[in-house]
Amino acid sequence: MRPPLPAFRREFQASLLAWYRRHARSLPWREAPTLYKTVVSEFMLQQTQVKTVLPYFSRWLASLPDFDALAAAPEEQVLKLWEGLGYYSRARNLHRLARTLVALPAPPRTPEAWQELPGVGPYTAAAITSISFSAPAACVDGNVVRILTRLTADSTRHRDSATAARALAPLATALLSADHPGDHNQAMMELGATVCLRQNPLCLTCPVRTHCAAARAGNPQEYPRLAPRTTEERQVTRLWCLHRGALLLHRASAESRRLARLHELPTAAQLHLTETAATQGLLLLRRRRSITRYVITERIHALSSPPRHLDPGLVWIPLEDLDSIALSGPHRRWIREVLADTNPSEPA
Ligand code: ADE
Repeated sequence: MRPPLPAFRREFQASLLAWYRRHARSLPWREAPTLYKTVVSEFMLQQTQVKTVLPYFSRWLASLPDFDALAAAPEEQVLKLWEGLGYYSRARNLHRLARTLVALPAPPRTPEAWQELPGVGPYTAAAITSISFSAPAACVDGNVVRILTRLTADSTRHRDSATAARALAPLATALLSADHPGDHNQAMMELGATVCLRQNPLCLTCPVRTHCAAARAGNPQEYPRLAPRTTEERQVTRLWCLHRGALLLHRASAESRRLARLHELPTAAQLHLTETAATQGLLLLRRRRSITRYVITERIHALSSPPRHLDPGLVWIPLEDLDSIALSGPHRRWIREVLADTNPSEPA
């Protein structure tokens, strides 16, 4: 890909920044930004949309207002505040990051140094250091890939969004405003989230449409050209075992990337039950959900008598304590649904 001409670059940056300064959504981490707000928001925004993050962000800031408070907080509190956002290793990494930062004389200022810290990849390092320290580091995620492939009508067939992001990093860097890298990056995020949409992009209101080859050709929807994503069906059988007012749950190990110490209803495998044995009891709930490329059908069956032997990780949680433990988001919903349908005083 040819580097953009200097005039193109200057005009692109100026149009984008002028638009951002007029039209940026007012988001809590953009108002009176601090390094702490930027770091917390960037961790929450990894794999999660702005509108989902908003209530979590306010609760988090109210409970843990700065790096010192976060570093001093018990892990239970951190996970509880994260509950429902998913990918819980982000919360544990953010906690570890705070503990690392408070032990340093000053926070690092370069993307390379930030990438050494827990949970910080190239995108997050570029976002944090460009926003907080004006480091000349370009953020490239799925949104930016979409903008750049449309801008240049890049018909390369990229294997996936991460591969495309690596291929487009030089162009993103070449277009980055050296004077305002933080605003430039946020403007690209904003453009991707509100104008350069995956379907039905709003080209008529786009500040850089005169620079965009796909808009000129009238086919922005054709970009980026990614290989079709393969999905895989999975079936999971879980057990509902309520005994003397306590529910049997599985607590994930601290090392689990997705769940890190979160509670879930136990699977047949965790209880060493065969599929046949696990599905003997009444089917209480059936739900489908997607996690990355897996489309999962979850079935929750009643288990009539409590297992005699429990592996470590399996715990009895009294029903009245369910609100105070960290439970994965969908499981809290499912448990509420089953409880609403069954009489908790009787064996399910
Ligand atoms: N996505 C990732 N970082 C973001 C930010 N700072 N503002 C809006 N969306 C984002």
